[in-house]
Amino acid sequence: MNNRYKRREFLENVCPQVALAMFGVTLVEACSKGDDDDGYSGSSDSAITGVTVQGNVVSIDLDDPSFSILQSRGWMNFTQQNMLLLKLSDTSYRAFTNSCPHQGSRNAWSYNSNQERFVCSSHSNSYPSDCTTPGTTDDVLECYETNVMGSTLSITKS
Ligand code: FES
Repeated sequence: MNNRYKRREFLENVCPQVALAMFGVTLVEACSKGDDDDGYSGSSDSAITGVTVQGNVVSIDLDDPSFSILQSRGWMNFTQQNMLLLKLSDTSYRAFTNSCPHQGSRNAWSYNSNQERFVCSSHSNSYPSDCTTPGTTDDVLECYETNVMGSTLSITKS
C-alpha cells in the first residue's frame, strides 16, 4: 500500500470536521452521525415551549407556536410528555399515551382522519380515537382526561 492510498483511505474514514481541522479550518462541532435522534420528525420537542407540568397535570398553551400543528394538521405526537394530542374542535381535544399497545413504539404514529384511528406503522396496528373501541390488537389506546379553559388545554395523566 503506497502513501497516497493510505492518505486517501484515512481521509475517507475520518469525519469531515476532523479532516477540515487538519487543514487549518476551525473545528466547530464534534463528529456525530446523529444516531441519538429519537426518529420522530413531527416536532422538535427539545425546543417546545408553552407547557407547564404540575404533578400529573400537563397544561398546554394552545396559542404557543409549538402547538400550531394541532390547528393545521389536527394531531401531534407530543413526545416530550409521551402523548398523542388530537383536536376535535376549538374547545375539545383528546389526549392519549403515545405508547403503542402492541409493543410500545412511540414514534411510528400517523392519524387516519377518515377512519378516526391512530395507526402505528411499526406493525400496522391501528386504534380508534374514541377512547373506548378496541383496536386491531383488541386493546384500547389509553386515553387521558382533558379540559379546555380559554386557550389552555389541561391533561391529567393517569
Ligand atoms: S408496536 Fe405499534 S404496531 Fe407493533
